[in-house]
Amino acid sequence: MASLVERFRDRLPLPQGAAVVSLGEGSTPLLPAPRLSEELGCALFLKWEGANPTGSFKDRGMTVAVSCALARGARGLVCASTGNTAASAAAYAARAGIPAVVLQPAGAVAIGKVAQALAAGARLLEVRGSFDQALDAARGLAERGDHVLVNSLNPHRLEGQKTAALELIEELGRTPDVVALPYGGGGNTRAYALGFDEAGTGLPRIVAAQAAARAETVATAIRIPQPPHRAEAEAAVARSGGAVVSVSDDAVLAAWRDAARLEGLFCEPASAAGLAALRRDPPRGATVVCVLTGHGLKDPETARRAARPPVTVEPDADAIAAAVA
Ligand code: F0G
Repeated sequence: MASLVERFRDRLPLPQGAAVVSLGEGSTPLLPAPRLSEELGCALFLKWEGANPTGSFKDRGMTVAVSCALARGARGLVCASTGNTAASAAAYAARAGIPAVVLQPAGAVAIGKVAQALAAGARLLEVRGSFDQALDAARGLAERGDHVLVNSLNPHRLEGQKTAALELIEELGRTPDVVALPYGGGGNTRAYALGFDEAGTGLPRIVAAQAAARAETVATAIRIPQPPHRAEAEAAVARSGGAVVSVSDDAVLAAWRDAARLEGLFCEPASAAGLAALRRDPPRGATVVCVLTGHGLKDPETARRAARPPVTVEPDADAIAAAVA
């Protein structure tokens, strides 16, 4: 499988001859969702971004941002993160052979993401404060010159992430009528708009799903009180004829469970926000892509809490038959 940069090189800002730092990102599945389509009265497809190498869409942006940073002589990376950017930055830094400093809001990151950043050898610091405060600190460190900021404020991140929109068009053979996705900081919403704009097909209606309680949602990936891209992201949504939709934690968890139980896709809770928003106002008759942004294994704790604990049995067919009756 070609790396994302090889596949879309003519649309990406890589300097001539730059070495590509890749883990085999992009080219993720676009899967029809027959049961949810029937429920919503539309043709629903799920873009499975959990299939990226570190389990989230962040890898699309990170391959471009880290390759560009390396080409310009970067000696280290820094990011603030609710977890997925950190996991991705840590992995691509390891691949590039440079150190990464990752700042996470203390106690608010799912365990799988912490494990990923630590496993890849990042300097992980837990910041006493929100994501917003950690991001300000990361920018401050980057300004000192030794670390390149790889948050989505780095424009190369959005350039990489826009390729998801280009893939969708290729896979569907057209631009969908509606695209639904989670809205945390707003970078990915902007990246999709950028991709559709560049494809010249016009924007689909963008449904950007944010947590109703931004500062304390169970969907920790999008626990971002002040979205850094709010103005541009919401302008793109408005231009598309779509909407920013606020979804409750209960609605997010119901959508998260049903993506797994009805369609077999175990995503992380934040990733189901788009589906929760579609359920609020189903786009009947439309061709719809819902982006599942990250893998369920990122947040096993929430999965364990949400399910009944397994029953323990003797290794005996009768006992097992009784238990499952
Ligand atoms: N879905 C997942 C799984 C995420 O991790 C994020 C953001 C989003 C959706 C929202 O994307 O911020 O571009 O609107 N995660 C960031 C992080 C903040 O640090 O990993 P957005």
